[in-house]
Amino acid sequence: MLYLGDCIEVMKRLDNDSIDLVFADPPYFLSNGGLSISSGKVVSVNKGEWDDKTSYQDINLFTKNWLFECYRLLKPTGTIWVSGTHHNIFDVEKEMKKIGFKIINIVIWHKSDPPPLLYKNKFRFSYEMIIWAKKFNRHTFNYDKMFQVCSKEMDDVWTLPAVQKFEKNFGYHPTQKPEYLLERIIMASSNEGDIILDPFLGSGTTCYVAKKLKRSYVGIEKEQKYYFIAKNRIESI
Ligand SMILES: C[S@@+](CC[C@H](N)C(=O)[O-])C[C@H]1O[C@@H](n2cnc3c(N)ncnc32)[C@H](O)[C@@H]1O
Repeated sequence: MLYLGDCIEVMKRLDNDSIDLVFADPPYFLSNGGLSISSGKVVSVNKGEWDDKTSYQDINLFTKNWLFECYRLLKPTGTIWVSGTHHNIFDVEKEMKKIGFKIINIVIWHKSDPPPLLYKNKFRFSYEMIIWAKKFNRHTFNYDKMFQVCSKEMDDVWTLPAVQKFEKNFGYHPTQKPEYLLERIIMASSNEGDIILDPFLGSGTTCYVAKKLKRSYVGIEKEQKYYFIAKNRIESI
C-alpha cells in the first residue's frame, strides 16, 4: 500500500501493533545553502523544501512525533532502522530512547565510492549511521542468513557501493538509498509475508526491495513527483 501525504497524518490512521519492520530515512536537515561535489560537478547541497533547516525545537518535535507513531504501529516483536549522519542521528537516538526503543546495533554504512570534498579542510565523509532498535525484548534476526553472506559472523560495519545507475531508471531522487543496503536490512530483520513500513519513501527503494523479497509494504511520501517515481518503480515488478 502506498500513500501520498504527510507521514505523521497517515500513520495516525493505521492500527496499533500492525507493522513488523520500519525503515526510516528521514530528512537530515542538511539544506543550508552550501555547496558540495556530486558526479564531479559543484552542486548545491539543497535537496528540497522537505530538507530545509528550521529551528532546533521544530526539528526535534517533528522527530519525536514520527518516531512515536512508528513505535505505536510496531508489533511487540518489531524493529526499526533509522539512517542518518552526525547532522541528525544523535538527536534521533535521544528521542528513540525517550520513547522506549531499545538500541540493538548502530550499523555503519561505509561508502566504497564517496564523493570528494569541495573544501579540503576536513576528512572525506564516507559513512552514514543506521540505528537498529527494538520495541520490546524479542525480535527477528536472521543470524544464519547474514553469516552465509560473509562466511563468518557479520560485523556492524558494511562497506557497500552507492546507488547504481539502473536504480534511477524511474526518475531522479537526490538522496536515494542503494537497493543492496535495503536488501541486507530486510533480509536480516524480517521474514517473507512480514509488513514493512517506510514513512519517508522517496524513490521507493524500501518498498521496491520489500516486494522483490516477498514482503508486504506500506510506503508514505509527501512530494507528488517522488510518490509517482516510487509507484512506477514498485509496479514494475
Ligand atoms: C531522505 S529521503 C528518502 C529517500 C529514500 N530512502 C530513497 O531511497 O529514495 C526523504 C523523503 O521523505 C519525504 N518526506 C519528508 N518529510 C515527509 C513527511 N513529513 N511525510 C512524508 N514524506 C516526507 C521527502 O519528500 C523525501 O522524498
